[in-house]
Amino acid sequence: MVSQVVAAADEKPQQQLLLSKKAGCNSHGQDSSYFLGWQEYEKNPFDLVSNPSGIIQMGLAENQLSFDLLEDWLEKNPHALGLRQEGNSGASVFRDLALFQDYHGLPAFKNALARFMSEQRGHRVVFEPSNIVLTAGATSANEALMFCLADQGDAFLIPTPYYPGFDRDLKWRTGAEIVPVHCSSADGFRVTRAALDDAYRRAQRQRLRVKGVLITNPSNPLGTTVPRADLEMIVGFVAANKGIHLISDEIYAGTAFSDEFVSALEIVAELDNPTDVSDRVHVVYSLSKDLGLPGFRVGAIYSSNAGVVSAATKMSSFGLVSSQTQYLLAALLGDKEFTKGYVAENKRRIKERHDQLVEGLREMGIGCLGSNAGLFCWVDMGHLMRSRSFAGEMELWKKVVFEVGLNISPGSSCHCREPGWFRVCFANMSAKTLDVAMERLRSFVESSSNVTRRAAAAAAVLPARSISCPLAIKWALRLTPSTADRKAER
Ligand SMILES: Cc1ncc(COP(=O)(O)O)c(C=O)c1O
Repeated sequence: MVSQVVAAADEKPQQQLLLSKKAGCNSHGQDSSYFLGWQEYEKNPFDLVSNPSGIIQMGLAENQLSFDLLEDWLEKNPHALGLRQEGNSGASVFRDLALFQDYHGLPAFKNALARFMSEQRGHRVVFEPSNIVLTAGATSANEALMFCLADQGDAFLIPTPYYPGFDRDLKWRTGAEIVPVHCSSADGFRVTRAALDDAYRRAQRQRLRVKGVLITNPSNPLGTTVPRADLEMIVGFVAANKGIHLISDEIYAGTAFSDEFVSALEIVAELDNPTDVSDRVHVVYSLSKDLGLPGFRVGAIYSSNAGVVSAATKMSSFGLVSSQTQYLLAALLGDKEFTKGYVAENKRRIKERHDQLVEGLREMGIGCLGSNAGLFCWVDMGHLMRSRSFAGEMELWKKVVFEVGLNISPGSSCHCREPGWFRVCFANMSAKTLDVAMERLRSFVESSSNVTRRAAAAAAVLPARSISCPLAIKWALRLTPSTADRKAER
């Protein structure tokens, strides 16, 4: 609904709307295929019963796999939602919460969050509650850090492919710039020292002042944890460049289903002289993914830099976490037995769903980057494109959205330099819906390869000019009458 209103406003020329330059500035990234796919899904959302021919949303990194565990806890702990004290007194805390507006946050919540963050890192990192700044999600945390660390026109180096929302979160209102650190499929899209140096030099050539490096660990969209050696290299790079910071967005920390997740803070703590760099390394976190609560808008900046904590706390006035949300989550995260069981079971379910997707794709001859975290896989569909180009990627993406009925995110929307990669989400749907999605994709792949085979056979008896004409190949799949209708509308 929101996106329809925005879309209607976007159709009017900016000057007629009498808006500011910022409001009309397209660095927001709204016209990226990442967001356009969501709009298409909203027009015709799949439902197993009421709309079985609709578009299946596989472009949204939501975690709906463990809601039952949270609901079960809520059933057993009615005081938390009822805004009452636990135990015999059961006194109402409604009035206190209604008036509470301190931007330092509820101490009970910050303590519980600090412990939860530590638990996800096997207690190898201790989080000091007074170094936490609460924000309305990681979106707000990342933007606040940009406001704290970069002036307009300053740049952050970010490994590609990266989360498409960063264009909005880091650049739009702050005026900061992103310089991509180009990673390659040849080495599993790992961040190399050469790629970092190259990005740094490019920024200098563009006369941009580099203020830092931002990584997402585990990575969105790759679904991989950053290997310890790579983290050591990145922290070393930052330590050696005195004027720059490292932001480590660890929003997917709790989704890592192997034991390999290492926080940037662990690497800093292991340095011979951690104080050289410790006040330049900042962690971003949120409960949107690990607890599956993006609607609650709970995020955090963790920093040992007193200046950053102080400035970000003042900035958090623009995006506070409501006091009743803090109250509820202080009780939930404070329940150590619950969080222990939840973290383990949530990971188990993520892995199970991940394996369902990877195995299904493998059976149809589609490969993925090997992954061990996240709510998505990074899928190589290059062989299904008519040409290994971004035009070919866009063409395939449109077919998958409009004809196959799956909204996946093309790699180009994540600034991937190699065409043919797509991010496919698996945790925002039931196992049955994922089966339907796999079945649709299987029919598409089969019909595509039949057409390719027929075209190749025809080409064998045609003059050479026809062989090089990819337009001879038709993508023939028609899933449902409504798919054809939708296509006709465009
Ligand atoms: C890497 C990354 N950072 C930040 C966000 C924003 O999260 P939040 O819902 O907490 O604002 C997302 C959401 O998908 C993300 O993937």
